[in-house]
Amino acid sequence: MDHQQDLTRDHGHRAHQRSGSYDQHRILNLDAEVFGDNLASVLDFTGTTAVRSVVDLGAGTGAGSRLLRRRYPDAAVTCVDNDPQMLELLRKQGFAVVEADLDDGFPLLAGPSLTAETVAEAPVDLVWAASSLHHVAHPARLLSGIRRALAPDGVLVVVELAALPRFLGNPREALLERRCNAAAAAEGWNDHPNWAPIIEAAGFGVTQSEVTTMAPVTPAAREYAQQWFARFLHLAALTADDRDAVKNLLDQFSDDIELEPRATRTIWVATPAGKSS
Ligand SMILES: C[S@@+](CC[C@H](N)C(=O)[O-])C[C@H]1O[C@@H](n2cnc3c(N)ncnc32)[C@H](O)[C@@H]1O
Repeated sequence: MDHQQDLTRDHGHRAHQRSGSYDQHRILNLDAEVFGDNLASVLDFTGTTAVRSVVDLGAGTGAGSRLLRRRYPDAAVTCVDNDPQMLELLRKQGFAVVEADLDDGFPLLAGPSLTAETVAEAPVDLVWAASSLHHVAHPARLLSGIRRALAPDGVLVVVELAALPRFLGNPREALLERRCNAAAAAEGWNDHPNWAPIIEAAGFGVTQSEVTTMAPVTPAAREYAQQWFARFLHLAALTADDRDAVKNLLDQFSDDIELEPRATRTIWVATPAGKSS
């Protein structure tokens, strides 16, 4: 798969991870810097306070793990990922890490690949999966494993981008951006289902919400916008005219470009069925 695809879709593919890791790290960090408040406000939906153990599934560069550590300073936060470079970054930030392929299910139940020091104390109070569940080959299997690992009053939080982030403020350019986003969607970027029925089928009650953030226009926001548009150039579905317009935009990408960065995330908060979520 083309490694220029979105920050979520192709990220779990190992070949890509090896070749494009630097870009992916930078993009995940830019997303955290620009839309960090977006992710932080997701935590307001968890409705849980007594948290001793947290597992961040597909933790990436640690955007969510850092938020979780700040929100629950007394909790043990364990990061799971299958990309050794991500795990190294997470380790450097002081997180316990587990290298595991989530395609095989919830790793803390898998046993052999774990070492004593990396295993979060079961049962788990909070499982967090941000922009990662759609990478997993067998989400139902993973969700069943999470259900078994969760404490009776534990919470699972699944987060996805509701749509690709938007950056441009000028109406004419915003139309171009819409067409780029449509072409990206046609190529499967950020493709994910409504997780609610799939999570429910694994034995959870689910509530679904959306949170939208308008981010301030900062140098990081400009760089992030540029990164997205540079990646749009690789879309096969983009028309020749739009490709030229994107090139043009990138050539003159300066402080004059009117930015209104905004992102919406969908949040599914799930609790073991039988308990209200
Ligand atoms: C788009 S990133 C999201 C990172 C982070 N959760 C965030 O919100 O910034 C997806 C992460 O899931 C990891 N991942 C994808 N497929 C995986 C799998 N099968 N097993 C373990 N980790 C996986 C990737 O390596 C990557 O770090």
